[in-house]
Amino acid sequence: MIPHLLSIRELSQGDVLDILGRACRLKREGAPCTALAGKVVVKLFYEPSTRTSCSFEVAAAGLGAHVLNWNIANSSSIKGESLLDTARNLAAMGVFAFVIRHPNAGAPARVAKHIGCAVVNAGDGRHEHPSQALLDAFTLMEKWGGELRGRRVLIVGDILHSRVARSNLYCLQLLGAKVRFCGPPTLAPKAFEALGAEVCFDLDEALKDVDAVMMLRLQKERQQEALIPSAQEYQRRWGLDLRRMSKLKEGTFVMHPGPVNRGLEIASEVMDGPYNLILEQVANGVVVRQAILESLQ
Ligand code: CP
Repeated sequence: MIPHLLSIRELSQGDVLDILGRACRLKREGAPCTALAGKVVVKLFYEPSTRTSCSFEVAAAGLGAHVLNWNIANSSSIKGESLLDTARNLAAMGVFAFVIRHPNAGAPARVAKHIGCAVVNAGDGRHEHPSQALLDAFTLMEKWGGELRGRRVLIVGDILHSRVARSNLYCLQLLGAKVRFCGPPTLAPKAFEALGAEVCFDLDEALKDVDAVMMLRLQKERQQEALIPSAQEYQRRWGLDLRRMSKLKEGTFVMHPGPVNRGLEIASEVMDGPYNLILEQVANGVVVRQAILESLQ
């Protein structure tokens, strides 16, 4: 059991295995629809989301919780109310857990520190996206007989702005896998080697001996300066297309957390082809998020 889910970095290997084990049981046996009966789960999303937001909603509803869909556009945050005041006021109505997405790194942790409810980080700035990493690890473990030890996972693209890359690095390492980052030097700086990742810039080299490739979305909304030569050049050097797919070992899986820039970081033919786990990731997101909610004390 955990009080909050704020980052993978704060979890032990035992915590991660407990959540993934619960997800496995929930997938096998179905969700106990009364586990969170009478409890209120509030989604506070200060950034857009399709998968994470809807997946937490389906997960919480499946456990019998009442889900409160706070909507920034119709909320008093438009009048200047702070995140903390918003959370305080909602907590006063009797909340079991907040699921928070926010552009500022550390925002969910700040709420957790000041409010007496469980908090789940649904993505904060460039910091972490822990539920995404857990569902990615779950999806790979299903494919590899429950074991990630010794496997090599390549994460490609905009590592610099990616909370998914950071959470996946910590989670995969905790479970014994090796992580390689690849992208332009501006988006995959060598500084990530200090965190234990291998970093390289040549995608054709990077693809050679990996068991899974996770493509990341080029996050144009977080790039204030020109960090890539052009979209066309990025696609040519760091995009995954059928030519590059042919260089992969047989059975190498392709992943993407979504949303996807089709034709930029990943070609449509790859996205819709075999060995692609993208919709399995989304499907597993529901049981993994149920496991997370069930783990909260
Ligand atoms: N993977 C992910 O976080 O997608 P959304 O932004 O749609 O939630």
